[in-house]
Amino acid sequence: MTHHASHAARSTKRVPDALDPDRIPRHIAIIMDGNGRWAKTRGLPRVAGHKMGVDSVREAVRTCGELGVQVLTLYAFSTENWLRPEAEVNELMRLLAWALKREVSELNKNHVRLAVSGRFEKLPKNVQAELTRSMEKLKNNEGLLLNLALNYGARQEIIDAVNAGIRAGVHEFTEEILARHLYTAGIPDPDLVIRTSGEMRVSNFLLWQIAYSELYVTPTLWPDFRAPNLIEAIAEYQGRHRRFGGL
Ligand code: FPP
Repeated sequence: MTHHASHAARSTKRVPDALDPDRIPRHIAIIMDGNGRWAKTRGLPRVAGHKMGVDSVREAVRTCGELGVQVLTLYAFSTENWLRPEAEVNELMRLLAWALKREVSELNKNHVRLAVSGRFEKLPKNVQAELTRSMEKLKNNEGLLLNLALNYGARQEIIDAVNAGIRAGVHEFTEEILARHLYTAGIPDPDLVIRTSGEMRVSNFLLWQIAYSELYVTPTLWPDFRAPNLIEAIAEYQGRHRRFGGL
C-alpha cells in the first residue's frame, strides 16, 4: 500500500479513548467461529447463525475502516468446510453472494477494497462472478483492504506458492520469494489474530503469515462479536509487548 493510501485512511479515522491511535494494528485476521453454536442455543438452524454472522462482518469492516486498520482478513470458508452437509455449504455460498451484492455500494462509500485469498476457481461460478464484479468496482479505493479467505487452507496456499514459484523459474526459495507467491503477496503479515468462540486452534489459517502475530481468543460467539468486542481485542493487543524473538 502506498504512503498516500495509508494517509488517506488515517485522515478519516475515529479512535475511541480506550485505544492508542498510534498503535492500531495494520492487519487484523479473524477466525469467525461459533455461528452454529449461537444458533443452537436459540433452537434455530445453523444457517441462522451464519446470517447473524454477516451482521458481525459488517460491523468489523466498518470499525476497522474507522480505526484506520489497513487490512482485515476474514476466514469465511476453509477448504475443510466442504465436508459440511451440502445444504449448509450451499447456504454459506448463497449468503456470501447475497451479502456482497447488498453491501458493495456501502463498501464503496467507505473506500473499502476487496481481495480474495484461496483457491478461487473452485468456488461456485455465481460466487466467483459476484466477487469479480465487487473487486472490480472497489479496485481503486484506498481505504481498508477487506481480504476474504475463501476456499482457503494455509498448507494448500504454501504448496500453491511453491508450485507457482517453480513455474516462474525459481530454483531456490528465500522467505521473501516464497511470500511473494502466497495469495497474500504484498499484504503485511497480521499483527493480531482473533478467534471467537473459545477454541484454542489455528485451524490451517495463515500458517506462514502469523509467525509473529499476537493471538487473541475470546469465548464470545461470532454473531455476538461486535464493535466493542473488537475494540477490546485491540486494546489488549496494545497492552502486549512484541519482541519478534528478540529481547
Ligand atoms: C464458523 O462457525 C463460521 C463459518 C464457517 C462461516 C463464516 C461465514 C459468515 C459469517 C458469513 C459469510 C461471510 C461474509 C464475509 C459475508 P461454525 O459454523 O463453525 O460454528 P460452530 O463451530 O459453532 O459450529
